[in-house]
Amino acid sequence: MKILFATSEAFPLIKTGGLGDVSGSLPRALKALRQDVRLILPAYPAARERVARLRVMAELELPPFPGPVRILRGRLPSTRLPLYLVDAPLFFERAGDPYRAPDGRDWQDNALRFGLFAQAVVRAALNQAGLDWQPDVVHCNDWQTGLVPALLAAHDERPGTLFTIHNLAYQGLFPPQTLAELGLDSGLWHIDGLEFHGQLSFIKGGLVFADHLTTVSPSYAEEIQTPRHGYGLEGLLAYRRDRLTGILNGIDYEEWNPQTDPYIHTPYSSDTLEQKLSNKHALQEAFGLPVRARTPLFAFIGRLVEQKGVDLLLDAVLPLLAQEDLQLVILGTGEAALERRVRDLIATFPDRVAGHIGYSEGHAHLVEAGADLFVMPSRFEPCGLNQMYSLRYGTPPVVRRTGGLADTVVDSTPATLKDGTATGFSFELDDPLALREALQRALKLYARPAAWRRLMQQGMIRDFSWQRSARAYRDLYKSLIRQPH
Ligand code: ADP
Ligand code: GLC
Repeated sequence: MKILFATSEAFPLIKTGGLGDVSGSLPRALKALRQDVRLILPAYPAARERVARLRVMAELELPPFPGPVRILRGRLPSTRLPLYLVDAPLFFERAGDPYRAPDGRDWQDNALRFGLFAQAVVRAALNQAGLDWQPDVVHCNDWQTGLVPALLAAHDERPGTLFTIHNLAYQGLFPPQTLAELGLDSGLWHIDGLEFHGQLSFIKGGLVFADHLTTVSPSYAEEIQTPRHGYGLEGLLAYRRDRLTGILNGIDYEEWNPQTDPYIHTPYSSDTLEQKLSNKHALQEAFGLPVRARTPLFAFIGRLVEQKGVDLLLDAVLPLLAQEDLQLVILGTGEAALERRVRDLIATFPDRVAGHIGYSEGHAHLVEAGADLFVMPSRFEPCGLNQMYSLRYGTPPVVRRTGGLADTVVDSTPATLKDGTATGFSFELDDPLALREALQRALKLYARPAAWRRLMQQGMIRDFSWQRSARAYRDLYKSLIRQPH
């Protein structure tokens, strides 16, 4: 099958979160299943710099955007995966991340930027972009590609469309006049189209018009059909439930492998867990904490936003830090108020809490390898990758039982410890007390080295590779191929 995978970020070209990881690894897993998958994303400077030997394939006019727009072709670094970059310097040749200026604010013209990108994807999907290749299926991801299924729906000779919801909280909402600015058909301005409470919704383009929808975990597919997690879109999603499937993300087993990870201090496996201690010492040293083997070391990595519940963690650990011997490392960047709270905690407990307010791929690997426990108290989590990295690195996770966290972590109870299925700790309520209780349960087990070692190993042997999920996508694509008219 021929699959065009459209995304706004892909590791190792550019990444702000899990979408980048998934877009860099799922297409490769599909290629390993012998599918003709090709990636398409905007030609950000970071992406252009990292791809060797880019060739100009075509030049397109995409009215109403000032042209021309070039399609560049190369390969995803260190892979054979074909890659198309949509080169529109006026919109993409900028510093900052894919969505925000260096000052952290969204680019004012994001609707135009991703509107243009969608138009280019549509041309490629219809084999009108000079690529001499027509996909059977276009796989779109999150609101940045939401207009693609909406625009394709108007064509008879079009590929099948799949839209994956990685995070329903980000919807791409813009003022109503954006519809005309993007040159879109006024017929799309409808409650059963792109209109959402008086605004233009990019994500609705995917949710309404795609042939099929997926979420990145089975639990999240259910949760978004409820008011709490549906943000007003729960009715639409429930209406489309026959066309909505949850497929759990996998993780990249090459990139995240404690036996070969170049970012960590000492490689290890479930048979050589004593080597993990060297990584703990390296982590303590790197973050300026006292080097202590038996002091339990908690870690948090993630965007510092409400979703991730880092405030729950800060509230929950405060009394523990005063009473118990423990250390905490935080790696993240995000909202100013949360960054400030993290800095304050570090200042209050300089010997116990350390952190890096920033983004660092290398540190993320060392933290996963060196910590004893990984804390992920998310308020909602469509899938979550860090808990799976933690399991693979023998760093039992403590998670809130929601979305993909509920689907990947098995709570330690007398029964699951006994039958060998326990892999971490989970709690139900969005409340620091509930998290504290889970952390205390974890500390109790940590004090029993043999039991703790078993828990580490049980997580490490679980399979979170892409193999199974890539097959599920392949089967789904097959069902979406449209018969010629
Ligand atoms: P989300 O996509 O909601 O941010 P995920 O758990 O799916 O959450 O993926 C987050 C990814 O981003 C992981 O690969 C994680 O290691 C990485 N990450 C998040 N924050 C940082 C950071 N400050 N430094 C390095 N990596 C980070
Ligand atoms: C989103 C979600 C996260 C998920 C990632 C990749 O960013 O917040 O839970 O793991 O997408 O699908």
